[in-house]
Amino acid sequence: MSETKTRVAILISGSGTNLQAFIDRAIDGRVDLDIVVVFSNRVDAYGLERARKAHIPWVSITHADYPDRESFDRSVAAVLDEYAPDLLILAGFMRILSPWFVRHYEGRVLNIHPALLPKYPGLNTHARALEAGDSHHGSTVHFVTEELDGGPRILAGRIAIEEGDTSDSLNSRVQAVEHEIYPQAAQWFAEGRLEFRDAAAWLDGKRLDEPVTEDF
Ligand code: GAR
Repeated sequence: MSETKTRVAILISGSGTNLQAFIDRAIDGRVDLDIVVVFSNRVDAYGLERARKAHIPWVSITHADYPDRESFDRSVAAVLDEYAPDLLILAGFMRILSPWFVRHYEGRVLNIHPALLPKYPGLNTHARALEAGDSHHGSTVHFVTEELDGGPRILAGRIAIEEGDTSDSLNSRVQAVEHEIYPQAAQWFAEGRLEFRDAAAWLDGKRLDEPVTEDF
């Protein structure tokens, strides 16, 4: 791959459908990203099979082998840094990051969370949106800071909740949205249009006090 591409490390814990969306778009040139390594904290994550099929280097380190969060994170960073990533993409990486890790990669880590943040940080977002009787739901790409699911928001994909929707139906529609918005936000970063500055997200030189929102 060309050396001008942005070098990305993708961190997963599970199925890796978002990882697959990045792989597909990197292969056919829709994004200027070179996926230099895939990392999982679970060696049985199906996403590692996706990396193998795409001939992308992968590494797995089990967090349970470490006495505390920061010692695990330092081992992860030591491995990732061998690949000199410009950007880290958390794609269903179900680990809370230590302050050390966040500072080490400050302004260079993206996460996607399956809710219209700041609503519903944490788990069970689809059920919580249904229970609250929300009219809309979706997913949000944001920069990672020490606040869980709380960093500056970049791009949100919004869907209408329909009569008869369940957690499962919302999950599949939200995931389809994620596969569009996440590569798009990473491409903005690759193009130098998106940056993290003064604890905020900036797109095309404008501070994003609200995320760019797209309806699906
Ligand atoms: C995605 O829906 C992502 O938004 C969510 O995990 C899923 C991973 O799916 N992330 C979080 O909940 C983080 N707080 P995938 O493994 O199929 O990409």
